[in-house]
Amino acid sequence: MAAALLRRVAATFRPPLPGFRAHASQSSNANLKTFQIYRWNPENLKKPEMKSYTVDLKECGPMVLDALFLIKSQLDATLTFRRSCREGICGSCAMNIDGCNGLACLTKIESGSSVTMITPLPHMFVIKDLVVDMTNFYNQYKSIEPWLKRKTATKDGKEVLQSKKDREKLEGMYECILCACCSTSCPSYWWNPESYLGPAALLHANRWIMDSRDEYTKERLDAICDEFKLYRCHTILNCARACPKGLNPGKQINNIKKLEAKSV
Ligand code: SF4
Ligand code: SF4
Ligand code: FES
Repeated sequence: MAAALLRRVAATFRPPLPGFRAHASQSSNANLKTFQIYRWNPENLKKPEMKSYTVDLKECGPMVLDALFLIKSQLDATLTFRRSCREGICGSCAMNIDGCNGLACLTKIESGSSVTMITPLPHMFVIKDLVVDMTNFYNQYKSIEPWLKRKTATKDGKEVLQSKKDREKLEGMYECILCACCSTSCPSYWWNPESYLGPAALLHANRWIMDSRDEYTKERLDAICDEFKLYRCHTILNCARACPKGLNPGKQINNIKKLEAKSV
């Protein structure tokens, strides 16, 4: 029994050095890929730098997150980045890859080029390496009160029901994973990060405005419809291009603008 258990552990345990060994031995240049990664450590006084790491793609999984794992486990344990689910659900691994915001776990390693550049989400304060400070982003999300608000109680005191048709109105919004790829690709957000709510928070504002069960529609509109919080959006639609979940925050922002125009 104990021997069987040991065999099972041995079968599932993989030594963490295959990429390094292959790289150091006879792997062909065609499989080698350089990752230039933004590095900055607040604990030393050096300026940020781009550091290069060479990875053997034969020994690495297909996604950029796989390469980051390989670099961290085999080449440089000090490399710091966020990740959790590795399947596009948690939103933690958002970063800028070759100039585009995206999730490292959903972005395939570009095999046609010899170099991939990875930097933190643009225009965010960096905590360390690829980890940015999300405090302002989360506070903006919190400010739109992302929960169901009611003025009346249900007759039977149970949950508030919704028709299938009303539920469909939330499509394209409830799927948001708050990765911030959209907000940090939005020029208006870059220049007004404190006063403009940005595409992610506004998409969520619209999600609650459109929820048939919510009874604070007018108050929600009044709270966000001002020159800065909402109207810094100029419908450039960088947000839609950046969203790794295929959502279109710009469209949701337009809906808020239309509702506001109708209500005046
Ligand atoms: S559409 Fe609005 S929110 Fe989206 S990138 Fe443009 S200005 Fe930003
Ligand atoms: S709308 Fe898309 S890009 Fe923006 S936070 Fe949500 S999932 Fe991320
Ligand atoms: S690790 Fe969760 S979205 Fe990439």
